[in-house]
Amino acid sequence: MYEKEISLAVIKRLPRYYRYLGELLENDVVRISSKELSEKMQVTASQIRQDLNNFGGFGQQGYGYNVEYLFTEIGKILGLDRKYNVIIIGAGNLGQALANYTDFERRGFLIKGIFDVNPRLEGISIRGNEIRMMETLEDFVKNNSVHIAALTIPKAKAPQVAADLVSWGVKAIWNFAPTDLNLPKDIMVENVHLAESLMRLSYNLKAREEQEREENQ
Ligand code: NAI
Repeated sequence: MYEKEISLAVIKRLPRYYRYLGELLENDVVRISSKELSEKMQVTASQIRQDLNNFGGFGQQGYGYNVEYLFTEIGKILGLDRKYNVIIIGAGNLGQALANYTDFERRGFLIKGIFDVNPRLEGISIRGNEIRMMETLEDFVKNNSVHIAALTIPKAKAPQVAADLVSWGVKAIWNFAPTDLNLPKDIMVENVHLAESLMRLSYNLKAREEQEREENQ
């Protein structure tokens, strides 16, 4: 299987290729050269060729890449050719925002349940999903195949809830709570921390200002 040999750096770039190719498909573009794709994506053409050659030469000399084929193959590599059942724990601002976002569904991530401890939220429907109480979570997880649990609860609660989910069989956690979960090694955790991405912006802004100051001296 070629998948084993693909470097992490390439895997990290694949979602962006997938997004661009999806847009091209929507615009009925049938094929594209690495040069054109490079101009669109602001990545060098040689990087694109190198990256995409990992999957066994999807491109053809003088023809370019078949957009639909490449989109489908990258989708398969990313595991997007199947459906994932997702539950959201914590139906506050962020949990509700995730539940309201329709694009995840289009990518095969289906929101199957939303859970919270606040009885005032019970039964409120978010795009057809009624918010359920945490007491029902264990049964739900044991009786439905839950592939991914998103954690959008306060950070003090996240480690225990994550440990419970894992003990009931959940293997992948999409963690938004600003805390490390320290789960067993076979559990996949993807941390999403918007504040960290803001800090990178603030670092870059600061560096730019310092550079401008030096240049003006
Ligand atoms: P929120 O206060 O609006 O929502 C939290 C919800 O969790 C509430 O509805 C509350 O009743 C529920 N909850 C509390 N304890 C629970 C438990 N043990 N089990 C189930 N539900 C429980 O807060 P918000 O703004 O939605 O943020 C949620 C979490 O996401 C926080 O930890 C926050 O720090 C984090 N966050 C992370 C971001 C990121 O980039 N990763 C961005 C924004 C928020």
